[in-house]
Amino acid sequence: MEVVTTIAEARARLDAARRSGGTVGLVPTMGYLHEGHASLMTASVADNDFTMVTIFVNPLQFAAGEDLASYPRDLERDLEICSAEGVDLVLAPGVDEMYPTPIETTVTVDAVARPLEGRSRPEHFAGVATVVAKLFSIAGPCRAYFGAKDWQQVAVVRRMAHDLSMPVEVVPCPTVREHDGLAMSSRNVYLAAEERAQAPVLRRALDAGLVAIAEGERDAAVVESAMAAVVAEADLGTVDYVAAVQADALITDGPLHDEVRLLIAVQFGKARLIDNDGCHID
Ligand code: PAF
Repeated sequence: MEVVTTIAEARARLDAARRSGGTVGLVPTMGYLHEGHASLMTASVADNDFTMVTIFVNPLQFAAGEDLASYPRDLERDLEICSAEGVDLVLAPGVDEMYPTPIETTVTVDAVARPLEGRSRPEHFAGVATVVAKLFSIAGPCRAYFGAKDWQQVAVVRRMAHDLSMPVEVVPCPTVREHDGLAMSSRNVYLAAEERAQAPVLRRALDAGLVAIAEGERDAAVVESAMAAVVAEADLGTVDYVAAVQADALITDGPLHDEVRLLIAVQFGKARLIDNDGCHID
């Protein structure tokens, strides 16, 4: 496995892989890797001839007052994980490499970025879309792997790639969970012991919503109440949102139908946890 820090070096390696007929897989990350990231690498290595992981904590997607400065980092351990997964190349650029001059061009995605995370973190998805557009431009034609835990992020990135005719296939991969159902996230390290003990309430709230739908409930507000009632059991958590929406548009358009997504965001102390799950209504 090779580790590079410049865009030019990464492009040269990827061009060489493509020249010899290889397909490229891209796994964009902000580092502090866990089994969720490893599962994206496993999928990319299985599907493609050459896999590049990027490790870059993107300042554009953090608002003032969010955890940019304290975001957990451990490059040495990250590289061990990438190597064990059979990754070919890691691009770990500094901020100066990614944003050598103050950025004047940003990418914003409209409707799909507006609700849910977009309401609570209004600048977040423009930051994500901008850095992912840059990473897609660096990687060139490829498959790009994202965790379904960040469901809205997948929807935003997919929409951007579609609207801008980017030669990238966006591949969502299933959420990887701890034994008690908590979705793996780099930010789980922020949880104090008592918060960690309560955090699986997100999974249980999603389950309550899924059960309500399985029992015939089609009113999103009623499904959301069922989810909220479960989260209320966790006295250390503050709910940001619980939502039952159509999976593509991330809004409701009447009674729930076809592909439905349940999404939840809860603040536990310093950790803002998100999770989601979905079902199909026949
Ligand atoms: O999901 C993440 O880790 C980040 O949002 C991403 C896609 C790497 C962009 O910085």
